[in-house]
Amino acid sequence: MCGIVGYIGNRSATPIVVKGLRSLEYRGYDSAGIACIDDGQAQLFKQSGRVDKLEASIDKSSLNAPLAIGHTRWATHGLPTTFNSHPHSNADRTVFVVHNGIIENYQDIKTKLQGEGYTFVSETDTEVIPHLIDYYLKSSKSFEEAFKKALRDLGGAYAIAAITTKEPGKMFAARLSSPLVIGVGKNEHLLASDPTALMEHTKKVIFLDDYDVAVITNKKVAVHNLKKGKIAERKAELLDYDNQEALLGDYPTFMLKEIFEAPATIRSATLGRTIASKNLVKLGGLESVTSQLEYIDRLVIVACGTSYYAGLVGEYLIEELAGIPVEVQLASEFKYRNEPFSRSTAILAISQSGETADTIAALKKVEDYGVLRLGVVNAVGSTISRITDAGVYCHAGPEQAVASTKAFIAQVTVLMQIALRLGDSGSKQYKAILKELDALPAKAQEVLDQAEEIKRIALKYKDYRDFLFIGRTYSYPAALEGALKLKEVSYIHAEGYASGEMKHGPLAMIDENFPTFAIATNSPILSKAYSNIQEIRARKGPVVAIATKGNKAIKKHADDVIYVPDSLEQTSLILSTMVTQLFAYYIAEAKGLNVDRPRNLAKSVTVE
Ligand code: F6R
Repeated sequence: MCGIVGYIGNRSATPIVVKGLRSLEYRGYDSAGIACIDDGQAQLFKQSGRVDKLEASIDKSSLNAPLAIGHTRWATHGLPTTFNSHPHSNADRTVFVVHNGIIENYQDIKTKLQGEGYTFVSETDTEVIPHLIDYYLKSSKSFEEAFKKALRDLGGAYAIAAITTKEPGKMFAARLSSPLVIGVGKNEHLLASDPTALMEHTKKVIFLDDYDVAVITNKKVAVHNLKKGKIAERKAELLDYDNQEALLGDYPTFMLKEIFEAPATIRSATLGRTIASKNLVKLGGLESVTSQLEYIDRLVIVACGTSYYAGLVGEYLIEELAGIPVEVQLASEFKYRNEPFSRSTAILAISQSGETADTIAALKKVEDYGVLRLGVVNAVGSTISRITDAGVYCHAGPEQAVASTKAFIAQVTVLMQIALRLGDSGSKQYKAILKELDALPAKAQEVLDQAEEIKRIALKYKDYRDFLFIGRTYSYPAALEGALKLKEVSYIHAEGYASGEMKHGPLAMIDENFPTFAIATNSPILSKAYSNIQEIRARKGPVVAIATKGNKAIKKHADDVIYVPDSLEQTSLILSTMVTQLFAYYIAEAKGLNVDRPRNLAKSVTVE
């Protein structure tokens, strides 16, 4: 949520920062801006809208600047106007700041500064930061001192980059609850809220921790921790990252590309972890906590959005395969609940970005309880991967479309392996699932091969205003996720329900203008799915069904049928989800919407 990029070195900073911003646009795309300093002279460019518009407005004379910071915004305080876009500056334009997060006490600071004669030109919380630095500069020996004094006054969450014309050989950075990473190059340093923006230049990175303040020159990074009150040693790490994965290639959109990556996603989430021929699941990331895993008698999964739905699948899997009671909680609710939490309870956070503020807050809440904190995370080196005791990476590669697709597939695949790892390796089910995981990439490919047919059916339904998605057991979370995907990218109102709940209320909405997407793949209770579909048809509701290949009977029950290959109940939800992803995609595409950048949303939600 909001992207920050900074550069200091010997190269031309402006184009490097603009390109970095473009790669971070998925974090916010309401407005963008850049400030650069060359020879003690600053230039500032800001635009509402996308980075392309910003780039077109940049004066060529800025191209020599060796120092720049930039920002792409997802608005929290104030409309996405040019005035509200970052960087923000003090009145005489000597201090420039970009910020990700929320300054919760900004109104108090603003009032105090206004009393000191400061005037504000935007409605943002961020604008207090350059003015506050300016205020402290009057009583400080250096910018660093004033910067630190200002940071001590800020409440809330922040990742901040700042530059000043008074010390043009330095870039300043600070973090509290919002991610910030420094890229280490040869005689140059970069700064970004997500390593994706750095990878073209360097894979050597330094992750900042909470309360860190960094003073960055082209040769050196000095980090000081405000809370501990001392110099902090922050080692550079090498990130294993394939640049090509972040590129669009021949696909028209990232969402389509990422849906089509499903077979590879399953393969890489299981690579070296499941070996069916040896009846083995080996999760290296959990090895350090092997003995603690023995004692878990309750697992609480915390996550948001799509990751939360993956967690619901995890609940079914872990309870069924490992016999451990599982609760799945929305991270945003978990934080504010007063529930009993014993030491034999473990917490498992699921997150694609590893930076979701609510999920981080949930983990922080149990920090002092002495419980085991686990993570299922995609983004390597992200906050959640670093604050948990152990975990399993999804290895799905960078997910760029705002709507999560391949990450869900990877999360479910990983959760399945965790359930197997915690379960009884001698059971029939264990062997069957392990074998099926091997077969799944080919079955996922079969779903993709039907993309044209799914598109044909999707176009038939594109003009409806509302949609229901229903499913039972493992297909229930898939129905919830299908509804989320449709509303997110096509803006059609959609709701996911457990099939059995229809007659407890939702059925009242059904008529010929309210279609239902019913997931009715093979399961021991398939006949119940038929009954639920009939209840809908009896009220004239159109029905699209997902069924297992070979099921001819379903044709009697549904207006349209999309078949998926035969698979286990525990795994076929992955195939059904791919169908709903494509369904949502093609409707949004037909409506001419920006599928990768749905309105009002941003990826990586780093504010609560
Ligand atoms: C939906 C979507 C969101 C995320 C949610 C959690 O398509 O992408 O609902 O799943 O914001 O994000 P992560 O997984 O990064 O914690």
